[in-house]
Amino acid sequence: MLPKYRLMVPGPTPLPPAVTMAAVRPIEDERTPEYAAVFRRILDNLKKMFRTENSVLVFTSSMTGAFEGAVQNLLSPGDHVLVAVNGVYGDRWATLCRAFGLRVTEVGAAWGEAVDMREVARTLAEHGDITAAIAVHCETSTGVVNDIEAFGRAAADVLSVVDTASGLGACELRTDDWGIDVVVAGGQKALMTPPGVAFASISENAWRHHAKATLPRFYFDWTQVRATTESALAHTPWTPAITLLSQLDVALGQILEEGLDNVLRRHVVLGRMARAGVRAMGLEVYGTDDDRAGSVTAVRLPRGIDVEALIRSAFVRHGVQFVGGPGALAGHVLRIGHCGYVDAFDVLSALGALELSLCDTGHDLVVGEGVAAALRTFHTSADAV
Ligand SMILES: Cc1ncc(COP(=O)(O)O)c(C=O)c1O
Repeated sequence: MLPKYRLMVPGPTPLPPAVTMAAVRPIEDERTPEYAAVFRRILDNLKKMFRTENSVLVFTSSMTGAFEGAVQNLLSPGDHVLVAVNGVYGDRWATLCRAFGLRVTEVGAAWGEAVDMREVARTLAEHGDITAAIAVHCETSTGVVNDIEAFGRAAADVLSVVDTASGLGACELRTDDWGIDVVVAGGQKALMTPPGVAFASISENAWRHHAKATLPRFYFDWTQVRATTESALAHTPWTPAITLLSQLDVALGQILEEGLDNVLRRHVVLGRMARAGVRAMGLEVYGTDDDRAGSVTAVRLPRGIDVEALIRSAFVRHGVQFVGGPGALAGHVLRIGHCGYVDAFDVLSALGALELSLCDTGHDLVVGEGVAAALRTFHTSADAV
């Protein structure tokens, strides 16, 4: 029998059956009152996900497109920005800003550790000319979740921009309470939607910066996108990924029906299970034992283990798809995604496949201890679910 396929990477993520089914709806014209009602519901539900009253815009692109759009819409050539870097995605923001001719000051932390937001505050105080500060919520490369509430306080006097690609819907985020001006995310992680749609929530302060920003823009021009989004017949200025939006609509409905707080608690438990299981296999988890890390668990593998062969074996023999570390983490990190349409039994299956595949590589472990530790964690985490 072919092994059952289990996608356990931190995006793209598995789809609930109803989200898959939404893809077979006939294509509709998006400039109709009927579609406008769907689009408006998506916008309202995204605001609930972001926990914001700010405007939310939707783009047909991967998340990086929406990040690039945020830079274009908020900044001018030569502007000075701070980027908090503790992994591949923070690093990518710094590269993106430099590509647009911005001056970048990085506040770093060791990969696997959270950024110290007091250092962000100190750096902003030292450089009075910084316009915007950028931080990644869940650094998907290591699973570490930065303290965005503290980031919001540290960056209160500049524009604050947060990448919550793998955080939204998996890790607590309170855009308005934490005072974050711009939050950017997309559908293909905890939002259980195929890749191709991204969104940004934009505060009034950010709109004021936008009015002065002079970097060239067109496709992602927030003024154009806002005009059609907020028109009587809500729509996007360019042809949207209609099918993906229909799927996003169903996915958001499911998340809100489960209840966002319940969804977040489920992710807390999944994170605890993955970390307990991995540690019981004698492996090291990146980062501290942190309940915020509900989206992805990154595992540092001992020297001598061929990560790609391990991942291949888990997939070919047991149907479980893991992914390696991106960028500089390639070759010694394996990541287990547990965001979105994932439950405790998916995590148990994944840990079982990991144990068996590790055993095949000759790693010294008692098969079943990882699964047992994760199962016990699930059993005793009733307080969190
Ligand atoms: C934190 C973070 N930022 C950015 C991205 C890039 O997103 P995309 O591939 O949709 O452009 C990812 C994707 O994994 C991510 O996890």
